[in-house]
Amino acid sequence: MLAVTWQGVHDMQVSEVPDPQIEEPTDAIIKITSTGLCGSDLHLYETLAPFMEAGDVVGHEPMGIVEEVGAGVTNLRVGDRVVVPFNVCCGTCWMCRSNLYSQCETTQNHEHGTGASFFGYSKLYGQVPGGQAEYLRVPFADFMSMKVPHEHADDRFLFLSDVLPTAWQALQYADVPGGGTLLVLGAGPIGDMAARMGVQAGHRVISVDRVAERLGRVKAFGAEPVHLDDAEQAGGVGALVRESTGGRGPDAVIDAVGMEAHGSPAATLVQKFVGLLPDAVAEPMMKKAGLDRLAALYTAIDAVRRGGTISISGVYGGAADPMPMMQLFDKQVQLRMGQANVRAWTDDLLPMLTEEDAFGVDAFATHHLPLTEAPAAYEHFQKKEEGMVKVVFQP
Ligand SMILES: NC(=O)c1ccc[n+]([C@@H]2O[C@H](COP(=O)([O-])OP(=O)(O)OC[C@H]3O[C@@H](n4cnc5c(N)ncnc54)[C@H](O)[C@@H]3O)[C@@H](O)[C@H]2O)c1
Ligand SMILES: [Zn+2]
Ligand SMILES: [Zn+2]
Repeated sequence: MLAVTWQGVHDMQVSEVPDPQIEEPTDAIIKITSTGLCGSDLHLYETLAPFMEAGDVVGHEPMGIVEEVGAGVTNLRVGDRVVVPFNVCCGTCWMCRSNLYSQCETTQNHEHGTGASFFGYSKLYGQVPGGQAEYLRVPFADFMSMKVPHEHADDRFLFLSDVLPTAWQALQYADVPGGGTLLVLGAGPIGDMAARMGVQAGHRVISVDRVAERLGRVKAFGAEPVHLDDAEQAGGVGALVRESTGGRGPDAVIDAVGMEAHGSPAATLVQKFVGLLPDAVAEPMMKKAGLDRLAALYTAIDAVRRGGTISISGVYGGAADPMPMMQLFDKQVQLRMGQANVRAWTDDLLPMLTEEDAFGVDAFATHHLPLTEAPAAYEHFQKKEEGMVKVVFQP
């Protein structure tokens, strides 16, 4: 089959790889009909390179049609239409029973001290073959596969794999009080969706990014757009937002940027340098040294009002970043974060998609492309060119 494979820094290729097979009786094989490209895939493109191996199949936002089921699968039939969450999780361990699916104890990666495995996401997360491919092996298939109706085009349901539950968790964790103000940093797919959900929940939402067309999308859904350059001219995002919130700052901030933030050139150089080192040297360095670009997180800490909440959905990778602990403590900030526990939210979200298109998902993707265009799509998405916000590959 064809699959998008990681071959090196900035080098994704479409390769012929062996078809996945049923390996456990609880597995299913699905034929992928749509599969998303995510900001998290960009971390593999460069920053997490030390944890990748040439030939790894990437992608973690798949949906499709069940092609084959193992002997132990009872809930699924060949022909079912399913969306698969990015977390690989068993559904029955203590963490799964506590709705902490991204911490699943059956798929945790003890060797690296990390949580549950993800599809297509480096040795840190299990090196599980991913979903930007023609077929996908789904472990724990009874639990993992979310059956969706056969009505509507794929995009109506596809984003249940990641974008919708991630943005929803970000908003729940932000805990915005009634009538409150939410600042969303980043208007990529995650920040965009979180802003839409915040507006829908009745909050005042301010969205910050540097890409004008991304700000245009959230504005159309009722958020107040702020261009990063304008904010910088006005003394920074914190200062600008305090001015319009009675001097206090927003009640909550969602960081939907993560470690690829613009604005910390020194860290960029270090990240590039580590990416060039041999893996044996780079791996421990990446895990121990503080290599993230913390621009967005620092902005969140500065902007949030005293006693407010910061909800981090952007991914950070370095382990020993210097954090402004004094300011966090002094401001009594509540910090909440983590990979989305996808299956914890999808039962709530599904009815919001079947009855109506509550979050505008039908028109959310800016590009639908064949898998063969993946190498160029990764490049344009990283550089934020060609109006590319959300890409859906249709193998
Ligand atoms: N927690 C989870 O489960 C989860 C799931 C999916 C994605 N993510 C993470 O969420 C983040 C965003 O993902 P995405 O798909 O929206 O990707 P993206 O890279 O397209 O979005 C990031 C956006 O942030 C903007 N940005 C960069 N620096 C900024 C700054 N200093 N201030 C404000 N905006 C800035 C960029 O212009 C871009 O539009 C990534 O870190 C991704 O890994 C987390
Ligand atoms: Zn994703
Ligand atoms: Zn589990």
